[in-house]
Amino acid sequence: MGRNPESPIGVFDSGVGGLTVLLEIYRQMPWESVIYFGDTDRVPYGNRTAGEIITFVQEILDWFAAQQVKMVIMACNTSSALALEVVRPLYDFPILGLILPGARAAVQVGKRIGVLATTATVNSNAYGDAILESSQGKAQVWQVACPEFVPLIEQGRIFDPYTIAVARTYLRPLLARRIDTLVFGCTHYPHLAPIIREILPPSVRLVDPAVFVTQAALQELSLLGLSRPYPYHPGQTSFYVSGCPEQFAQLASRWLGEIPIVAKLVPSTVRLSS
Ligand code: DGL
Repeated sequence: MGRNPESPIGVFDSGVGGLTVLLEIYRQMPWESVIYFGDTDRVPYGNRTAGEIITFVQEILDWFAAQQVKMVIMACNTSSALALEVVRPLYDFPILGLILPGARAAVQVGKRIGVLATTATVNSNAYGDAILESSQGKAQVWQVACPEFVPLIEQGRIFDPYTIAVARTYLRPLLARRIDTLVFGCTHYPHLAPIIREILPPSVRLVDPAVFVTQAALQELSLLGLSRPYPYHPGQTSFYVSGCPEQFAQLASRWLGEIPIVAKLVPSTVRLSS
């Protein structure tokens, strides 16, 4: 059969962060089918080394290749920052990351740009480089690593007073710089948008790279002749996680509005057995 317009798009993250990209796919191209993988057994990625992240990403991409996906969206900034350039030449399907679409969107609207991201993403300076390049050096960037956010979000503690206090601490240095734009440099963080919005002045623009990577995916599928053809029917999503499927299903239902059916998958096992 091979890859064709009816093939699914692969979307992955370390956990529920990638749902912010999945929801954008539902909004912008609801006719496409998706295979979603959350590496919940190994979350968080943000405290890991580049070597570990590249290994995990290759395992996941090998599995997606076996599923005959027509494209992969890395719904994970940490993977996009540390692994995208390494793995892209190794596969024969397009692989999209969040950093460039996010940086380009930010420089369209702001000059004093704050980025919240994982420690690994901040240390890579991927957003710093991409924003400076996209703005031809005209924008200023300040990045803050937020290692406490992903575990809190994976525990569903979105409106917990402790989470709000942590968010205030992370945003303080960006407020001191009088940022005009904030980039969610981790796909988990838009889940905190309601509390972050409350802490920032209303004039600060929020940029969610999920919106822009999905726009890029839509365009690229069309250019490659791989969009699902008219007449469109709603796409299907299959969910897989490496950790506990029930826990993921419960948490994900907050954002999906229904409890998804989730299967367990261990990527390295799949690789060894395939
Ligand atoms: N949501 C991912 C990101 O965008 C990974 C976060 C993590 O696992 O630390 O960076």
